Amino acid sequence: MFKKLVRQRRTAYQFLDKSLDKDLVNQCIDAAIWAPNHGLTEPWRFFVLGNQTKQSLMTIYAQLRADKRAEPGSEEHQTIYQKACQRFLANPAMVLVGQLKSSNPVTYKEDYAACSCAIQNFQLMATEFGLGVQWSTGPIIEANETYSILKINPEEIELIGLLYMGYPSCDSNQIRKPVAEVTQYYP
Ligand SMILES: Cc1cc2nc3c(=O)[nH]c(=O)nc-3n(C[C@H](O)[C@H](O)[C@H](O)COP(=O)(O)O)c2cc1C
Repeated sequence: MFKKLVRQRRTAYQFLDKSLDKDLVNQCIDAAIWAPNHGLTEPWRFFVLGNQTKQSLMTIYAQLRADKRAEPGSEEHQTIYQKACQRFLANPAMVLVGQLKSSNPVTYKEDYAACSCAIQNFQLMATEFGLGVQWSTGPIIEANETYSILKINPEEIELIGLLYMGYPSCDSNQIRKPVAEVTQYYP
């Protein structure tokens, strides 16, 4: 059963226009916080976006996307901006994941690993609910405006991922190299 769940979890890029129960998101977060973490630092923080905040972040997302692809002020920029707004709002739910910043570089690294495990737990729980997740590390998580909208102190917390989620509208096919290709065995 676990093997099936692991194989079923595939990054989802497109979602049905169907909202999801808030409780499902909370259950995914509850699965996330049971991830291993060295020294019980529990370095993860979750920021669940409501509609008002989505609208605010949408403008940042669209601006960054359009600025990267076209000359500001151009017609193309405007088109990309509009499409990006639609694309952003087409994600039924969004959860930002932050990592508590440690002054100790070893702890910092280990805490990122712990947060990654938490995100994987989150995704597996979502998969069990028939939901899909896209773990994104796009520029929006680095933008100062994102921190100010969410009232996050960048000296205390680093945003490490934006999880887009919803009911997937198409299957994603992925392949992996066989075990023998990525494993060395020793006598
Ligand atoms: C740390 C990390 C960052 C990622 N960032 C992005 C991203 O910015 N945009 C994106 O589309 N997918 C992102 N992904 C998802 C990967 O592209 C995805 O896991 C990969 O294509 C394998 O597909 P699968 O998840 O279906 O196995 C990220 C995954 C990880 C682990």
